[in-house]
Amino acid sequence: MQFAGQPAYGRPVTDKASTFRARVYTVLRYSDPSPTGRHWRTLHLAVLGIGLMAVILLSIDELKPPYPTILRRVIWVVTVIFLLEYLVRLWVAPETPRFAHNSGLSARLNWMASIEGLIGLLAIVPAIMLGGGYIITGADTASVFCILWIMKFGLHAPAFSTLARVISNERAPIASILILFVIVLMLAATAAHMLERVSQPKEFGSLPNAMWWAVVTLTTTGYGDVVPTTVGGRMIGSLLMIAGITVLALMTGVLATGFAQEERRREYLRVWEQVARVPIFAALGVVTLSEIVGKLRTRYYPARVTVVRRGDPGDSMFFISSGEVEVRLPTGGSVKLSDGAFFGEMALLERQPRSASVATSRPTTLLVLYASDFYEIASHIPALAEAVEVEARRRREENLGRQAAETPQ
Ligand code: CMP
Repeated sequence: MQFAGQPAYGRPVTDKASTFRARVYTVLRYSDPSPTGRHWRTLHLAVLGIGLMAVILLSIDELKPPYPTILRRVIWVVTVIFLLEYLVRLWVAPETPRFAHNSGLSARLNWMASIEGLIGLLAIVPAIMLGGGYIITGADTASVFCILWIMKFGLHAPAFSTLARVISNERAPIASILILFVIVLMLAATAAHMLERVSQPKEFGSLPNAMWWAVVTLTTTGYGDVVPTTVGGRMIGSLLMIAGITVLALMTGVLATGFAQEERRREYLRVWEQVARVPIFAALGVVTLSEIVGKLRTRYYPARVTVVRRGDPGDSMFFISSGEVEVRLPTGGSVKLSDGAFFGEMALLERQPRSASVATSRPTTLLVLYASDFYEIASHIPALAEAVEVEARRRREENLGRQAAETPQ
């Protein structure tokens, strides 16, 4: 079994980014895990936050000069940044994988019509409105349109697309719960209408009125504006409240499970992309690899963060997908490990505390394998366990050698 060399499958996206435009596209993806991508997103969020804050503050009438002028300038700068961003995104649109078969123009038009393109456009529309506002009315009314920037926040929230996927995946149980909701609602509204219409003709005299009460009660909102007064009506009300809690609990359960499953699928894809960079996995077959990928978790660390501390109990081992760490050896001195290497295996194999501290020297993406999963995988895939053990033995001997060299004769 050979563990060295380039993996034969699934090159990471950044590897394909050969041209400058492709590299820019890669970094601008909202899901790009690279440090540059994350820095860009932090900057983008900061600009967005500053812009929104300026719009909110500008709406305060009591603001004394020179603050309105400063705030207007801030809004302009933010709008210009968004305009530039829009133009750059338009330029890189042909790199989008789903437009791979379109011509440059068609890819750009498609991107402009996409949710991301429309939100980008909405973000620069305020610039035009703001310009118009100054010229036509000289008022700041147009700046209120800048609040549309809030839509850009949505692009940073992967949970939105996850929610759409979850609703699509779970549409059958969601539809069943909604149908159940409507059935209970109609039954309760009809019963309340029949029982209460004589004593409260205004509130329960018609089915639509009774339905309002049923909706408020079924969703457990209970405004208390309409209340049944007959014994039968109250019994229906009680049952309806219990049914409401049950229906909401069912919906919560379906959505929560769907979210968890979807997140697990996404993490699987993320890990699959990263795992290709670790040579120790390169020689494994797809089936074996898929078993490991399901157990790995991605973790991003900025530079100079301690990942494991000497003497701590070892509960996991790490594979470096990209970046670099420094192993601070107990004898003094250090060893640098970079892309494709692993660490944290010694504590798991020897069931001893960590033998050294390990800290990132650059922003680093690690794949974490927890101890329980490591032991399970080691028992299934002896070749992998052996490769890890051989390296651990070599490291132990190296450390002993260093220790012996440092001990005075
Ligand atoms: P562990 O003891 O679990 O935690 C510290 C890790 O540092 C250790 O596992 C090894 O993975 C790593 N390590 C220790 N000594 C060396 C070495 N000489 N060269 C490279 N890595 C090392």
